[in-house]
Amino acid sequence: MNHRDAQDLALALKQLVEDAHHQLDSAREVPELVSRVTGHLGCELRNMICVTERFPGWEHVNLQNGVDRYIAEHSPEAEWFGVAGHGREHDDLVNILTVTARGWERFEIGAVGLGTAAIGPDETTEVVTFGLILTRTPDGSPVLVGLRAGSEHGSPQCQVDVLAADRSNATAVRDEIGRLMREHDVYRGQILSFSWSEHRGNELVTFLPRPALSTNEVILPSGVLESVERHIVGIAEHAVSLSEHGQHLKRGLLLYGPPGTGKTHTVRYLMGRMSGCTVIVMTGSAIRFVAQAAGLARRLHPAIVVLEDVDLVAQDRSYSGGDGNPLLFALLDAMDGIGGDADVTFILTTNRADVLERALADRPGRVDLAVEIPKPDAAGRAALLRLYAGDLDLTADLDPLVARTEGATASFFKELLRRAVLGALVEGASPARLTGEQLGRALDEMLGERETLTRSLLGSGEHVHDDGDGPPGFTVPRPMLHGPGGVFRRVDRHPL
Ligand SMILES: Nc1ncnc2c1ncn2[C@@H]1O[C@H](COP(=O)(O)OP(=O)(O)O)[C@@H](O)[C@H]1O
Ligand SMILES: [Mg+2]
Repeated sequence: MNHRDAQDLALALKQLVEDAHHQLDSAREVPELVSRVTGHLGCELRNMICVTERFPGWEHVNLQNGVDRYIAEHSPEAEWFGVAGHGREHDDLVNILTVTARGWERFEIGAVGLGTAAIGPDETTEVVTFGLILTRTPDGSPVLVGLRAGSEHGSPQCQVDVLAADRSNATAVRDEIGRLMREHDVYRGQILSFSWSEHRGNELVTFLPRPALSTNEVILPSGVLESVERHIVGIAEHAVSLSEHGQHLKRGLLLYGPPGTGKTHTVRYLMGRMSGCTVIVMTGSAIRFVAQAAGLARRLHPAIVVLEDVDLVAQDRSYSGGDGNPLLFALLDAMDGIGGDADVTFILTTNRADVLERALADRPGRVDLAVEIPKPDAAGRAALLRLYAGDLDLTADLDPLVARTEGATASFFKELLRRAVLGALVEGASPARLTGEQLGRALDEMLGERETLTRSLLGSGEHVHDDGDGPPGFTVPRPMLHGPGGVFRRVDRHPL
């Protein structure tokens, strides 16, 4: 090697080392996580605009749906990527990128965080709990969309971030995702239960299957189901014409009566009748979310908001400041807040109409039909025996059974038939035919002394007494009724 070659080699080596240093430096200065974003957006981090929108956790599935639809339309080839690094879930996106660019923290491109969310009673879908995707505005400008789930003060939340070089581009994408979210709302037409969990401290939405009950499965005095149906289903069927004639669509139905007589059963029947209608069911403390439920109902109408056992709320003083009951007022306000033009029905059920009457009478116009769901009369009791016997061959003379069960609620008959069938099975007899003796023995058992609590829970009428001491909806057995004037005399008079 001559001197010249050696010099060239030294220079080349020097160049190589410098290039390597340079590459190392630039790799350190602009980590891939940052360069991928800045490269796509075509601007420096400090010039980026981030538009963020937050939603409650139960909207995550809708947000995902909105983003998925946006991506499918504007950048179907785009792929999600994640961010790895400690504390990413507590940091906002711009901050993650900034601290990484400056080398203060080492966030890197990582796996996409995924979770699942329900989209139906038996169906779930994958949702991104932390992920980014590079996409474009409808007119082609580059943007980045980020999706994440977390919680704030214990309440699950989700959020979308849109990063762009220009504010109007970021907001345009955010708005379009929002529009797609609402247009394809996964809750529309579903039966949803809003429930509240002490543990998670947040409203949670669950999908319920739509019940399918036929008219002859609902045993009520003649005309009762028809009038309820006319009010709820009839208005829905003529919604367009009614609106055209200036009539309001919003309606409020109160179903009241003793426990176990079929208030919930009637509501389930109506849910089945109103296919395609969004239903939101709330019970007890979940009624605190009535404002959100009413908002959802208005958005997804035609809709029904079912408020079960409202007396529990009306009596709940834990939210009360002074005389009023804020929760009950919140409920009445929510009913009031929906415009008459929205096809929204509120159905309230209660065992204690008296508790509600004052509040409802003080603020009229919320409930436009109040229907009593009474204990079944003799014809109803016979019909209930036949209904719950199902396919069984009832050879029994039903009259004595009907007479002995005066005052019993509908749910009592369901249990009676089950016990009779079980009794037949235990005896080794075929339960396909039920005799009067078998039914009589089941009834003896249920009316027997050992089952006072069962009786009161199933509501066997005059044999129990509601002295108002127990929790609402429960009847408290009064021992003296088991004496000569009580249940046993009746049993004696109608031996089976
Ligand atoms: N009127 C009825 N016709 C037929 N079955 C009924 C009737 N009422 C109640 N049942 C039966 O008893 C069960 C409990 O009744 P439910 O509707 O929950 O009572 P509540 O009036 O307390 O809401 C129902 O699921 C249904 O099986
Ligand atoms: Mg009920």
